[in-house]
Amino acid sequence: MRKKIIAGNWKMNKTAPEASELTEEIKQKMDTSTEVDVVLCPPFTDLAAVYRIIHDSYIDLGGQNLHWEEKGAFTGEISADMLKSVGCHYVIIGHSERRQYFEETDETVNKKIKSALHEGLIPIVCVGELLEEREADKTQSVIETQVKAAFEDIDKIQAQKMVLAYEPVWAIGTGKVATPEQAQEVHEFIRKLLTDIFDEETASTIRIQYGGSMKPDNAAELLSQPDVDGGLIGGASLDAGSFIAIINHAKSNME
Ligand code: PGA
Repeated sequence: MRKKIIAGNWKMNKTAPEASELTEEIKQKMDTSTEVDVVLCPPFTDLAAVYRIIHDSYIDLGGQNLHWEEKGAFTGEISADMLKSVGCHYVIIGHSERRQYFEETDETVNKKIKSALHEGLIPIVCVGELLEEREADKTQSVIETQVKAAFEDIDKIQAQKMVLAYEPVWAIGTGKVATPEQAQEVHEFIRKLLTDIFDEETASTIRIQYGGSMKPDNAAELLSQPDVDGGLIGGASLDAGSFIAIINHAKSNME
């Protein structure tokens, strides 16, 4: 059985003192069992502060983006090595907001994945369709293009370490969550794609999170779908109580 993984994507929220406060609250309220992987992805400026609080717990740290080059004249960018050096184990790659507002392409997503893997970071790779693509019945072709491009030139040993996040763009921050059936349908499709690209064993190892308005009151049903292996949580991860409630739903699903 795949271990569920719940990650909080704080996006551009929380100053360093605010991040410390939220992290302390999450750490205190969370029980110490380890049936679910828990990851916090705060802004770059909060990583060190958050790491100081969680380093002796089972909560992991992740970045929200990285640059594929190792170092050099890339003002404003952060490398995989730098993320590792402040305690990150994970990094979100290809979030739809990066694709929409910062010209992230399938090609740069692939380069970033390779750089993360090279440094031993676990990429959380986001894919998802826009509302107009869903309405034009293009969900599967959009997902297929994104997934195939993400895994270009990546071998199955590396692929098995990765996490995918299916995030329908129309459900992100909108309160319009995908139904459990809609989520399962796409997750199952992604699993089939992974079987075609690699093999059944690899496809059944890779974890696929759902993201897009996941909240305590819809998490249980989403997380009970056979191919939904966790959640990438935006808004609800900024509140310790909501985030922990989602983690607890994931835990009860593992029992
Ligand atoms: P949301 O964001 O939970 O606020 O919809 C999810 C995400 O963008 O990762």
